[in-house]
Amino acid sequence: MKSKSSRLPGLFRLDVAARRALVEETAGLAPGTLAADLEAGGLDLATADQMIENVVGTYALPFGIAPNFVVNGQELLVPMVVEEPSVVAAAANAAKMTRAGGGFQATVDPPLMTAQIQLVDVVDPDDAARRLEAAAPSILAEAAELSPRLCARGGGPRSLSARVLSRPGDLDGGMLVVHLDVDCRDAMGANLVNTLAETLAPRLAERAGGRPALRILTNLSDQRLVRVTARVPRASLGDDDPALIVQASRFAELDAYRAATHNKGILNGVDAVLVATGNDWRGVEAGAHAFAASGGRYRPLAVWRLEGDELHGTLAMPMAVGTVGGALRCHAGARLALAILGISTAAELAGVIGAAGLATNLAALRALAHEGIQEGHMALHRRAHGNRLEPNP
Ligand code: MEV
Repeated sequence: MKSKSSRLPGLFRLDVAARRALVEETAGLAPGTLAADLEAGGLDLATADQMIENVVGTYALPFGIAPNFVVNGQELLVPMVVEEPSVVAAAANAAKMTRAGGGFQATVDPPLMTAQIQLVDVVDPDDAARRLEAAAPSILAEAAELSPRLCARGGGPRSLSARVLSRPGDLDGGMLVVHLDVDCRDAMGANLVNTLAETLAPRLAERAGGRPALRILTNLSDQRLVRVTARVPRASLGDDDPALIVQASRFAELDAYRAATHNKGILNGVDAVLVATGNDWRGVEAGAHAFAASGGRYRPLAVWRLEGDELHGTLAMPMAVGTVGGALRCHAGARLALAILGISTAAELAGVIGAAGLATNLAALRALAHEGIQEGHMALHRRAHGNRLEPNP
């Protein structure tokens, strides 16, 4: 979306056809695009049959739109695919609260993915690690030759390091791991770095005087972080008390049991956009939890503080996502999600996903610290299932 406001009051009151028309108009898409692209959930059976093994059908989930988002000054309608009631409403409400403070500000690291190459039976791992690092320029040049198209797009291998994991005489013998950092531009990068790792491993093993073992990316992509901040002016919180939201944040900072649930609330928003845009949500989940625990204790991925009269939120987490390749090649719904966002780079997408996570976190803490989560949640459950439904046990 380029310039139109993403404030769409009353979107939730429209029927599906009118909602589609309003989203198309706001996002600058041709009338009928949403109906056509979401036909059969964006994926026909023949295409699905090419994607994975032993296909017997496709499996649909609701595709919703969270309005009200502003990320780095850009108005955005955020597509979300999720089965849980309240997530889309939570994201929309929290995004609305941030608008008076300028919306979300996102900064994104360069898109570095790291391949791990495990070398075993290394006779002198300390010396091998030194030699490999000294040879980094020529190994990186070899890697660049193996990835000409990526290099032509401005990406490519960037750095190499080696770490000793165990020494001869230890239980695991001489073992080291080589990290190869690759700038993957707008791709998530799994295929790129795994191919490089597999091709380079025998040469690295030869240089190290050992045998190649595993060759695979790490999902702890801690050089590919998204950082998002938001300011919520006191007035945007109505009667709610910002100090209670800070207290809720502190609870997660002090207690891993609470931090796990706090982070689940962040991942509600994060995963919904990942799924909508055809990205690998398991990879981002794995990275999120490993990053949350990387200081030796499991921590929240986002925290809230009072600054003067304003509530300030900050989120930092790995965000390995792509806007090319993967499911985007064949999934019309995923391509539509990017078209609704009106963005093309992986960096922009990472910023939006981080903003969605900070938004669902804010909405959850606000509700939990005040009326509780069940009230709004159960109203939506009733809408979906009628009054028969009991709260989930
Ligand atoms: C429910 O899907 C998410 C929450 O549990 C998150 C949280 O507790 O912060 C409400």
